Amino acid sequence: MKLEGKVAIITGGARGNGLAAARCLAREGADIAIADICRDIETTPYQLSNPETMAGAVRELEQMGRKAIGIECDVRNSGDVEAMVKQVMDTFGKVDILVNNAGIGGLEALVDMSEEAWDDMLDIHLKGTFLCCKHVVPHMIEQHGGKVVNISSVGGLRGFGMGSHYCAAKHGIIGLTKSLAMETADHNINVNVVCPGTVWTDMMAGLAGAFGMETEEAKQNFFAGHLFKDREICPEDVGQAVRWLCTEDSKCMTGGQVVVDAGWTARAP
Ligand SMILES: NC(=O)c1ccc[n+]([C@@H]2O[C@H](COP(=O)([O-])OP(=O)(O)OC[C@H]3O[C@@H](n4cnc5c(N)ncnc54)[C@H](O)[C@@H]3O)[C@@H](O)[C@H]2O)c1
Repeated sequence: MKLEGKVAIITGGARGNGLAAARCLAREGADIAIADICRDIETTPYQLSNPETMAGAVRELEQMGRKAIGIECDVRNSGDVEAMVKQVMDTFGKVDILVNNAGIGGLEALVDMSEEAWDDMLDIHLKGTFLCCKHVVPHMIEQHGGKVVNISSVGGLRGFGMGSHYCAAKHGIIGLTKSLAMETADHNINVNVVCPGTVWTDMMAGLAGAFGMETEEAKQNFFAGHLFKDREICPEDVGQAVRWLCTEDSKCMTGGQVVVDAGWTARAP
């Protein structure tokens, strides 16, 4: 096991890509703190996780033989993030890995978009990543080592019509990643980003449902850019990329991107 004795915080880890990353890190021996909002947000047209979802995730990780805690935390809120990091430090005494994964999806033309929808999207993805880094990285600097993995998207590498807020946030995460990598390399901290293609999680199913699309029709639309037609990108595929970036196998990688998009960005649109 490559992460025995390590402690990881995974935001938005109660389900989906975050929970898959938690499983992958736990399999390598890491103890896990899941930080998730566990309630719905007005501007998001589908349900987010709830306390039961998080309890189930924690139970599953414990059954793998790891220590695991679930902390209700809205990554938009600096007080919540500060308290979450304090709870992790009080419980485990350190933090070695931060996975900034919490996120929402939305489909809306820019001219119809409310300011609230824009703010929620940017605040969860971009400000949330900033706040978690701001409160965790000082501990990594103190211990002279750590791994930060930010979850961006193909939407961080190209535009999506009806997704200006999502793409702005996801492009921003890549810029933040490169800059933070420059600020922390001397402290033995790796900061990288994972850019998944479409993964059929509750987020995508929720978005499809909110727009009245049947599952098969939605998958056809959302997966259209993938070059592989005989397989879907699964949360486990994203989790494996995160796992690799958290081990010493990727020790020479920082400020970089792992693109798990079934070839979507390999071709011009
Ligand atoms: N599913 C995809 O196709 C896809 C593609 C590329 C990138 N991503 C990214 O992967 C990440 C996870 O998405 P997913 O598909 O697993 O979605 P999901 O909805 O299944 O999981 C997201 C989790 O984040 C939590 N969350 C939302 N707002 C939060 C907040 N303010 N504070 C803390 N937690 C919050 C939710 O409760 C939920 O548990 C997101 O950053 C998303 O943008 C997803």
